Amino acid sequence: MFNILVTKELPGDWLGLLGKECKIDLWKDVYPPPKQCLMQHIKDKDGALVTLTEKIDKEIIDVASKLKVISTYSVGYDHIDVRYAISKGIIITYTPEVLTEATADLIFGLILASARRIAEGDRVIRKGQWNTPWYPTFMLGREVFGKTIGIIGMGRIGKAVLRRAKGFSMRVVYYSRERHNVDAEYLNLDELLKTSDFVIVSAELNELTYHMINEDKLRLMKKDSFLINASRGKIVDEKALIKALTEGWIAGAGLDVFENEPLPRDSKLVNLENVVLTPHLGSATVETRERMAEIATKNLLLALKGEKPIYEVRF
Ligand code: GLV
Repeated sequence: MFNILVTKELPGDWLGLLGKECKIDLWKDVYPPPKQCLMQHIKDKDGALVTLTEKIDKEIIDVASKLKVISTYSVGYDHIDVRYAISKGIIITYTPEVLTEATADLIFGLILASARRIAEGDRVIRKGQWNTPWYPTFMLGREVFGKTIGIIGMGRIGKAVLRRAKGFSMRVVYYSRERHNVDAEYLNLDELLKTSDFVIVSAELNELTYHMINEDKLRLMKKDSFLINASRGKIVDEKALIKALTEGWIAGAGLDVFENEPLPRDSKLVNLENVVLTPHLGSATVETRERMAEIATKNLLLALKGEKPIYEVRF
């Protein structure tokens, strides 16, 4: 029997299955264990199944002297000091692919909701403010069909957004670390920002992408354009974005991720009409979250048994 730590309950019966081969120390709270507590629980474990709310830093890795694998229930792994863990011989696994389509759907939802003022319209009705008959200039949004979409980061999710954009007859441009063999034009970041009607942040968070979209970059965007982010909040300088939305440098934004989550209640974003906010729902479908549970538990077991996990983080 392997000794493992699991930091969240998972959908489906994957933990039941895991329990047949592992002794599970399950943290049941939706709030992550405080650091000291996490250190206490991880120190004698062979494996850990964590989510993106657990920050696994050097100190935690150092106390976990028996740890063979960290399986994260996420596609992003910026919450783990991956390079340090790997240097200590720890295998890191993650759950890409199974959440690609769900996340791309959410991104498209944010594009449509922000351009066509869907959430704002819903608020108008609920607040009892729909008190005029139909008239030609009421609540006009912006067209999505046929516009230019600029995708920053052409990984699996970027490509899934591209496929959807083709269905909307959009011109697709992209910026990425590498060139990809895709039906889209490669532009440098500044050119992408200057030409896109919709700028989609679909990159991973690392030292290079932290605050990649800052004040200078936001100022390059068109006045009638929208910024959509469903990757990691820290890629966008949120203060600068609030300024851009308040002062009208851009038309609006659709945000599923934030610099601090949950978004503080007093965030200025909450009072802006031209931003659509969702609480980190990219992969939040019944089907996807169950598939993530399957992959995360299988990854963990395979690595513990010395077999090849389905998805391993490698550099
Ligand atoms: C969600 O943000 C993930 O990384 O899976």
